[in-house]
Amino acid sequence: MPEKNIQAARGVKDILPEEQKYWFWVERTWQEVVHASGFERIILPTFEPTELFKRSVGEFTDIVSKQMYTFKDLGNNSITLRPEGTAGTVRAYLEHGMRTLPQPVKLYYWGPMYRYERPQAGRFREFYQVGLEMFGDDTPMADVSMIQSILRFYKKLGLSDIVVKVNTLGTVRSRTKAMATLSKMLGKNKKNLCEDCKIRAKKNPLRVLDCKTIKCQEIIAEAGNILMDSLDKESKRRFTKVLEHMDELKLEYELDPGLVRGLDYYTHTVFEIVIRGNEETVLGGGGRYDDLVKTLGGPSTPAIGFAVGVERVINTMKAQSVTIPEIPKADVFIVQLGNRAKDKAQNVMTKLEEEDLKVASLIGKKGSIQGQLKLASQLHVPLAIIIGDQEIHDKNIILRDMQDRSQETVIDRKIVAMVKQKLEEKKIEV
Ligand code: HAM
Repeated sequence: MPEKNIQAARGVKDILPEEQKYWFWVERTWQEVVHASGFERIILPTFEPTELFKRSVGEFTDIVSKQMYTFKDLGNNSITLRPEGTAGTVRAYLEHGMRTLPQPVKLYYWGPMYRYERPQAGRFREFYQVGLEMFGDDTPMADVSMIQSILRFYKKLGLSDIVVKVNTLGTVRSRTKAMATLSKMLGKNKKNLCEDCKIRAKKNPLRVLDCKTIKCQEIIAEAGNILMDSLDKESKRRFTKVLEHMDELKLEYELDPGLVRGLDYYTHTVFEIVIRGNEETVLGGGGRYDDLVKTLGGPSTPAIGFAVGVERVINTMKAQSVTIPEIPKADVFIVQLGNRAKDKAQNVMTKLEEEDLKVASLIGKKGSIQGQLKLASQLHVPLAIIIGDQEIHDKNIILRDMQDRSQETVIDRKIVAMVKQKLEEKKIEV
């Protein structure tokens, strides 16, 4: 009996070459936007001590109570594959004394996260996030500029119908007050709650607020705007300022009193990005977490962050038929015609490669000019060099722009400089 083929584990996927153009485009756009906003990259470990997530994300959250990949390593240490990036970033901020740097410290990351969830469209057990974290700025304007950077990212990617949902959770004190009122109310309606919310009502009653089942929604409707009603004066004033700044900057948003987020560390402003008409699929979420640095042993430090689900963004780009440039497989394609041209083509190729340029060609094989140019465009190569008998005789080379099909004649010794200049004009890294 032949052995059965081994397949990828449930909830994970291969990201094949034909998908790479999306991943490349998302990463490049992300970097452009966050670099312009002053964020610097941090590469975090993919696993951390389990305790880190218990203390930050919260023991009774869905993530910690039922979605973590936790195991004992050979040294008997409890290790968890990171389900998110904020906890690790705070740990690194403290571990490397970043609080002594000029504040705010602005960091971004990119990488896989792990959650044992029920796999479905846009929900995986290994998925990628890009995220931003900013430490040391407690102003309402900081919240707004983060939302602004994020919106710039989604818009630059070419997505439309983006909706920002915002809410405030206030301080731990005001939230505890809201939870107590809510607990009482849910206690009275316990038997009418969905099975998940029966447990949430006991362990994390605020999560009932964003339950989507109709019977829970009806019960929650009675609670009115419970979080807002429990806010202290200062938190109310703060949130009003955030909304005022958003209005001044003409950033559109929707107030969503049911937006509570699934992680325990949030305080004050929270926000999520969805697409109008498909509001179940959250493309990214974040908020302020002013108590977390202290909870993890540091000094009181205001902080705010956000993370994007990369697969969900790519799925939305496909659903909205966003066109993205293909990734060139080379910088330049050398087209040659005739035996004498082959030697010259080889010579030019060597010179270009010595300058670290990526060259493609069919040197050594027979083919018409049209055939070679067709291949060049299939490889999305921005420039082509054409060498035939005439060019050998005249000691020059034809340089063709593959996008607008314009051509110019360049003398032999200037070809390398000319190719580099053209690539620079097209903003293709050389
Ligand atoms: P989160 O809302 O748990 O927040 O995750 C952020 C985004 O990751 C979600 O909006 C979604 O797009 C994506 N995502 C989450 N789970 C999955 C999954 N199983 N499959 C595919 N995509 C998924 C956080 O993780 C916070 N750390 C965000 C943050 C940063 N808050 C402050 N700073």
